[in-house]
Amino acid sequence: MANSFDLTGILRDNIRNLIPYSSARDEFKGEASVLLDANENAYGSPLDGNYNRYPDPLQQQLKVKLSGIKGVPPRNIFLGNGSDEAIDILYRAFCRPGVDNVILVPPTYGMYEVSAHINDAAVKKVNLTEDFQLNLEGIAEAIDANTRIIFLCSPNNPTGNSLHREDVETILANFKGLVVIDEAYINYARQKTFIQELTEYSNLVVLQTLSKAWGLAGLRLGMAFASEEIIEVFNKIKPPYNINQATQELALKALDNVDKVNEWIRETVSEREKLSTKLSSLAFVLRVYPSDANFILAKTTNPRQLYDYLVEKSIIVRDRSKVELCEGCLRITVGTPDENKLLLEALDEFAFAH
Ligand SMILES: Cc1ncc(COP(=O)(O)O)c(C=O)c1O
Repeated sequence: MANSFDLTGILRDNIRNLIPYSSARDEFKGEASVLLDANENAYGSPLDGNYNRYPDPLQQQLKVKLSGIKGVPPRNIFLGNGSDEAIDILYRAFCRPGVDNVILVPPTYGMYEVSAHINDAAVKKVNLTEDFQLNLEGIAEAIDANTRIIFLCSPNNPTGNSLHREDVETILANFKGLVVIDEAYINYARQKTFIQELTEYSNLVVLQTLSKAWGLAGLRLGMAFASEEIIEVFNKIKPPYNINQATQELALKALDNVDKVNEWIRETVSEREKLSTKLSSLAFVLRVYPSDANFILAKTTNPRQLYDYLVEKSIIVRDRSKVELCEGCLRITVGTPDENKLLLEALDEFAFAH
């Protein structure tokens, strides 16, 4: 491993010295018939199931199941209340408020910046290039002694493309802080995940989520994959019961459906390609960007007018036309074949009317 990354060197002192909360379920982990340790309601719950009991703070069963699917040991997995919880914890652990900074590469997912502001971490922006790839020189210049994290998103939201793997590897090998690769859309990508590289790069954190391909945005289950040392930091900071019992049970059940998810992924990718081709043929669409995700970024002649027209037709897309480098663009999530058909019909009507 070329990178001489030192995790303890970037960990905030208050976190290093923190004595974490020790819950009743942390202290007693075995099976017992009389549980009088957690001030729960021993009589039961109004719902069927064990909801009167606190859930497993470390979600062991769920992690074992995810481990089988992802090929990463449970000790390298953190589960959060959506990926957004993992993003927030990264700031709280590694960025001293008012002192440290992170590098963001816009246009990208908005929560990295919001979370930075919440945690009073400075943001250094190094825009992606015109073809939405990393500006490696710009990033190298932006790094200073207080740069703690570089957030990358691949496939990137809202542009849809994957970042060149060699560029990401260059950053991983040279940056002495954490490199977070948000792979929320990886299931739709041609490029392979970075989670197999955890042993190669000790500064790597990969984020994934059940909110996209797995169809479980409502459950709120985000995953962070990283070295055991980093995962221990996450576990130290997180609220004791951050993943509720219902989410743990439902996610366990849902994870039995890999085949169904793979079928949805195949269909979404096929619909994405069809939709991209059709969008490209429309006169008011100037450019359709190649997508590795479940959405398409399209540059149009008059985005606001088109957006409003679609709203009138009860079709909602995302107006990204005010976002730097995305001027004129709408971001369109790939729907079901029926939904995509309705969208294309509405677009044809718009072409006819304008
Ligand atoms: C790149 C990216 N990361 C993370 C998320 C949020 O994931 P979660 O639902 O797990 O918080 C999104 C949601 O749109 C996203 O686009």
